[in-house]
Amino acid sequence: MNDDACVDFLQWCLPKLGKRWAGFRKVRGQVCKRIARRMQDLDRRSLDAYRDYLRAHPEEWDRLDAMCRITISRFYRDRGVFDALRDPLLPDLARRRADRGASTLRAWSAGCASGEEPYTLRLLWDLDVAERTPGVALHITATDAQPHMLDRARRGCYPRGTLKELPAAWVAQAFDVRDDNAEEPYCLRPAYRHGIDWHQHDIREAMPGGPFDLILCRNLIFTYFDADLQRVCLGQLLSRLAPHGLLILGKHETLPEGDWPLDAWDEHQRIYRRHAAAA
Ligand SMILES: C[S@@+](CC[C@H](N)C(=O)[O-])C[C@H]1O[C@@H](n2cnc3c(N)ncnc32)[C@H](O)[C@@H]1O
Repeated sequence: MNDDACVDFLQWCLPKLGKRWAGFRKVRGQVCKRIARRMQDLDRRSLDAYRDYLRAHPEEWDRLDAMCRITISRFYRDRGVFDALRDPLLPDLARRRADRGASTLRAWSAGCASGEEPYTLRLLWDLDVAERTPGVALHITATDAQPHMLDRARRGCYPRGTLKELPAAWVAQAFDVRDDNAEEPYCLRPAYRHGIDWHQHDIREAMPGGPFDLILCRNLIFTYFDADLQRVCLGQLLSRLAPHGLLILGKHETLPEGDWPLDAWDEHQRIYRRHAAAA
């Protein structure tokens, strides 16, 4: 399939899925490959023929929607965000919780891929922050739409490339290197897998209950969904964010237009704090 034809097809189908072409421009290659494979399976020789198939088989839209999920992630992605969480943000949030007599800080990684983001939080907490926040534990809820991503997350083994932004000392301390697991030899030790609940949720249909003190929603809603869906989802995220809680977007994402109860803590790193007077 040639690139122009695929672009034309994506520009036609993405708005019908509540998604925005701009988010897919750079990563369209992998989506186009999946569509080409699907067309082969269905013996449809052209995108026009696949369009006809979609018209005749409405259930195929769910399949196409799933083909449009991008799963790229890595540990300690966007270093500045995790540096800021390390100091001062997580210790501050923990202090706030302790002042209220609470012993748990609640975080949600929305669109957690194979676990790179929630495990980064776990390592950040266990290897650095915890000693400065006695009496407070971190509990993480991690959600993704795709069961196979959650299976990989539970397995907890990774290729070297996804770890390259993690401090080397943390890699040495927290991972076993398994020769028998050639493609994903770095396996997180069991000691660093605690306190994480994994759930399968399509974020457009369901979200965990909350309230959360920290929500990481990076490289999902605000990249791939259209403006209307972004606004709906953001409203739902905010209803789960505690007063003074933090919402973190992806490095290249922006909030949809609207009057949101958020202040920028660091606009550059896309870190926002919820107003005290939460609904
Ligand atoms: C690009 S990855 C981002 C991973 C991580 N948040 C990060 O920034 O490194 C997006 C993840 O969102 C998941 N996803 C896509 N559509 C979703 C949906 N509608 N509901 C929940 N998760 C979804 C994908 O399966 C994928 O694992």
